Amino acid sequence: MSIVLSARELSRHYEVSRGLLRKPALVRALNGVSFDLAAGKTLAVVGESGCGKSTLARALTLIEKPDGGSLEIAGRDALVHGRELRRDVQMVFQSPYASLNPRQKIADQLAEPLLINTDLNRAERRERVLAMLEQVGLRAEHAQRYPHMFSGGQRQRIAIARAMMLRPKVLVADEPTSALDVSIQAQVLNLFQDLQAEFATAYVFISHNLAVVRHLADEVLVMYLGRAVETGATSRLYERPLHPYTQALLAATPSLHPDPQRPRIALTGELPDPLDPPAGCAFHTRCPHATERCRSERPELRPLEGRQVACHHAERIG
Ligand SMILES: Nc1ncnc2c1ncn2[C@@H]1O[C@H](COP(=O)(O)OP(=O)(O)OP(=O)(O)O)[C@@H](O)[C@H]1O
Ligand SMILES: [Mg+2]
Repeated sequence: MSIVLSARELSRHYEVSRGLLRKPALVRALNGVSFDLAAGKTLAVVGESGCGKSTLARALTLIEKPDGGSLEIAGRDALVHGRELRRDVQMVFQSPYASLNPRQKIADQLAEPLLINTDLNRAERRERVLAMLEQVGLRAEHAQRYPHMFSGGQRQRIAIARAMMLRPKVLVADEPTSALDVSIQAQVLNLFQDLQAEFATAYVFISHNLAVVRHLADEVLVMYLGRAVETGATSRLYERPLHPYTQALLAATPSLHPDPQRPRIALTGELPDPLDPPAGCAFHTRCPHATERCRSERPELRPLEGRQVACHHAERIG
């Protein structure tokens, strides 16, 4: 399988003002995340609000340059060849309005990436636009309409169509269905799957819905305060999560059937202040298994039972 996206120790920091009299603080929104993603595969990124998922998405799509680490797209250094590689990594946002122009007809919006990036003539562009509209479940007559004339689900289909026009190697989708009616979500998820089967696009799929993730993803990356705490094949993580944070996330998912042998662990306590993250293991303030070592020594990701996990006590509590 060819690796199309490879991140090493990616990081992104933000300076946050704390008022006139205090020095600005640093949020380590993304703090050294690494993974490889192959063509046609889906990596899901999960974790609570504020753990850095969207920051990772912006770094991967070159919307924001990372402060550290390296990123390869299709085997080339994306921090050097960003301009050329940008077309290979497209993004779908939670709200399609983030990528659609309200004042432009759908046909023109879908043709635009072709106009800018290819030598196709007008007739060829039109053909590609109509083919893509059909591919995402819309009809030719829709091409002459404006975004507001569509339902939310149709608008997201159009945003997906636009992202796919240049046949990107990677599609990063940040909560792409969470703003849609539940009845529409499954259809849009099916569309993602159909397009992946057709074009072998690699997906980075960000979602709060762990049932959806289980259904869609080949691999899962669990993030906590800017770092990966557990990552590996979806089936392994769901069958036997080893990090207490993964265990708590899964236990909190009502639509899954937790193993009756394993005690349910609810996520307790507040997420720590990202401006002042806990020393040692960042999860220790909420972890039922934390020991003195966890308060002082940060666990690195390490291989265990066919996945990577960052917990000192994973053997004992898995
Ligand atoms: N432009 C910015 N300036 C300052 N801080 C930021 C900025 N963008 C993100 N952050 C901070 O970085 C951290 C990660 O934010 P991010 O939006 O990546 O989280 P997320 O996992 O996508 O959350 P959600 O699930 O709510 O979308 C948060 O603490 C957030 O406040
Ligand atoms: Mg986000």
